[in-house]
Amino acid sequence: MKDHRKNPNGHYHFSGHDTTVLAKKYGTPLYVMSEDLIRERMDIIHEAFLKPYPKNKAAYASKAYLSMHMCRIVENKGFHLDVVSGGELYTAMQADFPVEKIIFHGNNKSIDEIVMAVSAGVGTIVADYEEEIDIIEEKAKELDKVVNVILRVVPEVEGKTHKHIMTGQKDSKFGLPIENKAMLRIIGKIHSSSALAFKGFHFHIGSNLYENEIYRRAIERVMHLIKLIKEHFSIDTEELNVGGGFGIVYDDENQRKPISFYVDAIMDEIQQQCRAHALKIPSVIIEPGRWIVGEAGITIYEIGAIKEIPGVRKYISVNGGIADNIRPALYNAKYDAVIANKNDQEKIATFSVAGKCCESGDILIHDLKAPEVERGDLLVVKSTGAYNESMASNYNRLPRPAVVFLKGNASKLMAKRETYESILQRERLAELS
Ligand code: LLP
Repeated sequence: MKDHRKNPNGHYHFSGHDTTVLAKKYGTPLYVMSEDLIRERMDIIHEAFLKPYPKNKAAYASKAYLSMHMCRIVENKGFHLDVVSGGELYTAMQADFPVEKIIFHGNNKSIDEIVMAVSAGVGTIVADYEEEIDIIEEKAKELDKVVNVILRVVPEVEGKTHKHIMTGQKDSKFGLPIENKAMLRIIGKIHSSSALAFKGFHFHIGSNLYENEIYRRAIERVMHLIKLIKEHFSIDTEELNVGGGFGIVYDDENQRKPISFYVDAIMDEIQQQCRAHALKIPSVIIEPGRWIVGEAGITIYEIGAIKEIPGVRKYISVNGGIADNIRPALYNAKYDAVIANKNDQEKIATFSVAGKCCESGDILIHDLKAPEVERGDLLVVKSTGAYNESMASNYNRLPRPAVVFLKGNASKLMAKRETYESILQRERLAELS
């Protein structure tokens, strides 16, 4: 690799670290996560959402980025953990994450996953459909447990986001439609079971939302349900889980919204509605994933091929792509990037950043403004902390990058880079007959 030690002042620093030094030490492509920034985000949530409302809970949505180390940080910060599969649950358990603080989601939990969650004593299972409630009850009885259940409902509101990550609309694979004649019967079933404890409702409108009005509308709809069950069963809903979805900055600083923009609107609406309907204010749960880790991560690549198609565009190619960041291809997601070793140089060039996968759609960034580049320069893509590593694949047999965590002046390798050999480990060769 090219030695970038000349002109260290012109280098891009992330969370107090020279990114060219990290590239040299750990190789590229490299996921870098700032533990300091992750912790800072959680502290902000504490100040804005937990301190003023001591009954409230904040869960980290582990699908955004999960590792055993991340579980330790989440626990250390007093957060709950949202998991959506046996694999996520297993990771949390291996990190000794307190099971009673785990919220188990999923639109198609397998029987094995339900058994795993119930026997582990997971804090809450979010039931997604009626038959699942029966399965949870059956397994709870078999295992002699009482399971806290929250019912996921679809609030039938549409957030402004990519359609692949909208979940609040009527036509959704998640949850029970809110306008549902069977709703009272279903809640009655949970309420009357000796193996289940009805705790409340959950909804998740969608991901990467930059509006707060939509949360108010969803809350208003769910409040009708809370009122209904108060009337029918005299139950005060203990918990209302309003999901995650808070947007972050990708390519435009103007997108930035403080957490108070979301949580103040959420709490204000819940309080207003409870007052209007004479209901007890529930414990409110939020489940942000992206907002906690998204801007706390970057990816460092090395630039290889540079190609100009006269009059059309210039491509610079990096040593990663769709396999470590599928979001541009999947959601048309936009990212910003800098040339780590030329961060002080004028942005006089425009080019598209291509990945190395054998696919024309493997373009990480269109029309990036940057200094002139050459082979061996380092590109840092910002805000890759959420849904990059967790959605990575071995497409084209690319080994998944290493993950390095930064804390203060220290950097630590927390997940090794895959190798060609480790990719082959799942396989075996057999004689052809
Ligand atoms: N709670 C539930 C029930 C969810 O389904 C999700 C995300 C979250 C919380 C956290 O949402 P966040 O705060 O991170 O927006 N792969 C997509 C995002 C999928 C999100 C799925 N559910 C992406 O890369 O944009």
